[in-house]
Order: sequence, then C-alpha cells, then structure tokens
Amino acid sequence: MAFKSNLADEILHRADIVEVISNYIPVTKKGRNYVAICPFHDDKNPSLHISKDKQIYKCFACGAGGNAISFVQNYEKISFGDALKKVADLIGFDDERLKQYQHLNKIDHTLVPLYNCLEDLTKYYQYCLLTEEGKEAKNYLDQRGLAGDIEQTFRLGYALNNGEASIEFLQKRGHSIKTIEAIGIMGGELNQPFDRNRGRVMFPIADRDGKIVGFSGRILQKRKDVGKYVNSPETPVFKKSQILYNFDRAKTTARHDGYVYILEGFMDVFALYRAGINSAVALMGTALTKEHIAMLRSLNAELRICLDGDLAGQMGMLKIAKELSNSGLSYSFVDSSNEQRDPDEILTQDGKEALLKYLDKRISHSVFAMQYYRLHGKAETTNDRRRLVVEMLPIIDTITNQEELMDGLLILKSLTNFPLESLKKSLDLYRKRSNKTIPSFREVHPERELIRHFSFAERDVIIYMLHDKRAATYYEANINYLYDDIYRSIANFLIDYYDNHEAIDVAELINTIASNDTEGVQDIIEEVSSLSLRNDLPAYSDKSMDELRLTIEAERNKEMKERDLLEQTKGKSDAEKAAIYAQYYRKNKDDNLPVLDKERKPN
Ligand code: UTP
Ligand code: MN
Repeated sequence: MAFKSNLADEILHRADIVEVISNYIPVTKKGRNYVAICPFHDDKNPSLHISKDKQIYKCFACGAGGNAISFVQNYEKISFGDALKKVADLIGFDDERLKQYQHLNKIDHTLVPLYNCLEDLTKYYQYCLLTEEGKEAKNYLDQRGLAGDIEQTFRLGYALNNGEASIEFLQKRGHSIKTIEAIGIMGGELNQPFDRNRGRVMFPIADRDGKIVGFSGRILQKRKDVGKYVNSPETPVFKKSQILYNFDRAKTTARHDGYVYILEGFMDVFALYRAGINSAVALMGTALTKEHIAMLRSLNAELRICLDGDLAGQMGMLKIAKELSNSGLSYSFVDSSNEQRDPDEILTQDGKEALLKYLDKRISHSVFAMQYYRLHGKAETTNDRRRLVVEMLPIIDTITNQEELMDGLLILKSLTNFPLESLKKSLDLYRKRSNKTIPSFREVHPERELIRHFSFAERDVIIYMLHDKRAATYYEANINYLYDDIYRSIANFLIDYYDNHEAIDVAELINTIASNDTEGVQDIIEEVSSLSLRNDLPAYSDKSMDELRLTIEAERNKEMKERDLLEQTKGKSDAEKAAIYAQYYRKNKDDNLPVLDKERKPN
C-alpha cells in the first residue's frame, strides 16, 4: 500500500489543482487564489476556493474540500484509482504502476460483447478493403487522398456488396445474432439479415477512450436514391449526443496544442490531419450538446469552430455561439461566411497552405454574430426588426472594443432603421439592468409606442399629407421619396387617394390600404391610424414643408455617409477602423456616433 501512496504523491506533485479543476468547471482568479461556483452543492456565488500554494480546494458554504485527486473522485463519483488515472492522463503522466488500477475501472459488463463485436467488424471491414472486391473502394480512397496514412490511422474499411458476408463472419467469430443486432448494422428480416452498410466505404467511430462504438458508411458514387452517408442508429454504446468524431485522438494533442477545431464532418477532420493539425473533432451532422461541451471542457483548450459557409452551417455556428456564451470556455470562429467550400475542398483545390491560412483567420463571437445578422438577418416587418434588436443587443453588450462596438450599433441601425440614438439608449438601459432584459420601445421613446424611423421630419410630412391635400401636391413636386419604407408607402397611398378625393376619410383610406397585397400592410395601417389622430403641427404652409424637406435631405445625406462608413470599415483592422471613424468624426462633428461607455471595464 505504501506503493500506492507514493504513486499518488508523485502524480499530485506534478499536477496543478487549478488546471485539474478548470477541466471540469469554470475557474476565476481572485487575488492570489482562485474561486469557482461549487459543484457539490446548489451554489449561487463562487464559494469554492482553490489555493494554488497549498494545492487544495475548499468550499466555504458546503464544506467540501480536498486535493486534485479527491476533486476528480468526488466530481466524477469514481474510485480513487480511477481518479488517479484521470489526473495522470490529464498531465500526461504515464507509469507502469497505474496498470494495477485497471480492474477498478467501472465497466458495464453487459456491453463488453458489443464492444468486442464492433472491434471484430472494424477489423473485418479493414480486411475487405484489401480484397479484390474492395478495389473500387480502395481506388475511391486513393482518389480522395485518403489511402495510406489516413486509411491506417482512422482504420478505414469497406463493407462488401454481399451484405450477408459480414454477418456470417461475425457469427463464425462467436458473436450471437442478438449482439450483432444490438450494434445496429443489421437490415432485413431476422431470418435473412444483411449488413446495411453493404457496398460502402466504412469510417469507424470511436468513443472518448478509442473504443469503436459505431460506423458511418459512404457510397462510392453519387446516387439520388440513397443517402450519401449511413450512420449507426442509437445503440447502447453509440449515443450521438456524446460522440465527437476523433475526440479520442484529439484529446492528447489538444491539451498540448491549446486549441481544438470543431468541424462539420469527418472528411474535414482528415483534411486538417493532412495539413498537419491533429487537434480536430467533427460533429457529424448533429448540434453541439451539453455532453459535447463537457467533453470539450476537459481539454482545457480554445475551441475553434469551423462549420460550412452555407446558411445551414452558419446557423449551426450561431447556435453553438449561444451554447458556448455562458460556458466559461474560450472559443473563436473561423470566418467561413465568404467561403462556399468545406476544409476538404479547400485542401484538395488550393493546397495545405491555403487551408492553414483559412483556419487561421478567426473572429470573435460578437464579430461573427454581427456578420451573421448582417448577411442573414431578416428585417422585413416591424416584428423582425424588434427581434433583431432583442437578439443583437446582448451581443453588442459584450463588446469591449470601441471600433467593434461602433460597427455593431451601425449594423443594427442599418438593419432595423431604428434611430441610432434610440439604440444607444436601449444599450445603456440594458447595461444598467440587473435582470438583463431588453428595454421596451416605450421606455426608449416614451412619446411613441413604436419608433419606426429616426426621421421625425418624414413623419411630419405624412401628418401634413393626412390633413391637407396641398401637402400631397407639394410632396409629389418637391420630395417624392421618403427613406422609411412605411412612410414611403403611406405617401404613395395618399397620393393615389387624393387623385379622386378632396379630403381624407381615414377609415376609408384604411380600407383601400387593407385591400392591397403589399408587404407589411398591418404596419402601414397601424401607423396611419396613429398619425391621423395627431394634429399638433402648425397650420399648413409651403414654408413649413420647405423646412421639413431640408431636414429630410440632411438626414438622407447623413444616412448615406453612415452606410458608406460601414462599407469602408468592412474587413479592416481595428487600427484602420479607428482611423476611419476618427476622420469621419472630425469631418462631420457627429455626436451621434456611438461611444463606448468609459465606466465599463473590459471583461
Ligand atoms: P457533408 O455533406 O458536408 O459531408 O456532411 P462531407 O464531409 O463534405 O462529405 P463528402 O466530402 O461529400 O464525402 C457533413 C456530415 O454530415 C453527416 C455526416 O456525418 C457528414 O460527415 N451526413 C451528411 C450524414 O449523416 N448523412 C448524409 O447523408 C450527409
Ligand atoms: Mn466534402
């Protein structure tokens, strides 16, 4: 037993408790020590204190405490031996003596036959790839650059066209039909089963320890009638929500490299491998789950998310961003929005250097999200625009960089057409709230329930037009265009209406509008109703219309400049952006540009 404690001491001395605990929960530095939300009771404040000097942890609320090994033991609810092995694994400590703990491993013995069966089948598929019948599959792998190293390392194989062969093989090896059924490869009737992977190139999928738990099989030639990939169904050992392709191999390199790429498919994992990057895992067509996040946390590495540039991939990345935002993990995004190809295609078409360059161009959560909304944010109706504010304000709130903040507010403004002042005010209110809710529009602009546009001048033109035909005549002759789409539609409706009426009957006007199949009819009607109730402007005169026209022209001018500014800063570095903004500021003396709250400390 003295033996045992020596080994434990050795491991303890090499491990750092802060690092070990950080693998499980977010840890923050506080003075000389570290704190965390205690995982051993329902903790609200960080009550868990970690002393780097003493290499112990202690919860001041529930009393839990111990060293690095006891933390792992208690957190994972495993034996001392298993905890010791985990910590050793974490710090890359390899020692013969650890083998004595092998038997302590908690293995569900009913699953052992399944693991054995899957392992035998993997070997069989590998063997079939080398036979005469496997030639076509072998050529396929060759042509995709996967023969040789990748084929060996990732244990690629082939399932014979004769679907009964693999089942017969497994039976001859002593696996019961029940076990073969349980690993999820069987198709057809029980009395005449066949391998549902038949005729496919096989990609074995391992769990976090490297045991094969399932497969994905790819067709060799494009066909419309069957799926490109067939994946194992959920089985007692294959649980998609807990599997990241290549995690077993990436876990050692990721801890060392300090990062891990999260990719869409295993073909992309191979592409990165060919470019020399081993720290990569793939989601295989699923969302990022809580279990995945827990696995990734244990790597103690920066997560670099890189899904495809198509809308599905970008939406997936935005979802992942939301999942990760409260995880305490560090992560970044590969800027894939302008790239139609996946990493595999970039590698084969443009080579290794191009792929590495692509993977190196990474952006933060907020920049990614802004870019996403700018490209895909839908702002057709007032509700869309409100939703955009609700989604984007919390992201803008996290921005600590002055230039990025400026971009964020300008993008939100250009998407929604809400006044910059109102958006700034919303952001300020949001920041002051303890419950972090987006302020309602009423709070931001108390005098109106809805702010549709920054331009009160455009609104006043409409009010005049609603009350006096001369205003409509003036509008047609001298203005003829409003920036706001709703006001512009109303103006057009009014002009049509005045064609055969001398004055406006609002109820009737609303009917005319309602019978139109215009986009956003409801918004238009609401606005007409509320504006027609207002009569607080001075009596109509051409002079007051002149004034409004000048204001609108000035606003339009400013609007163009802001759009231009946004264009100019696109893709520029922060320093370049700062220069562009400063120049704009000097030239326009524009107080409305957003300014970072000086009180705010960067996170
Ligand atoms: P992709 O369609 O991007 O595949 O699907 P890919 O990696 O580019 O493959 P190649 O280059 O055409 O051979 C990404 C992932 O989505 C899952 C697979 O896990 C794949 O790795 N998928 C895709 C399926 O499960 N079934 C399918 O039919 C297609
Ligand atoms: Mn591909």
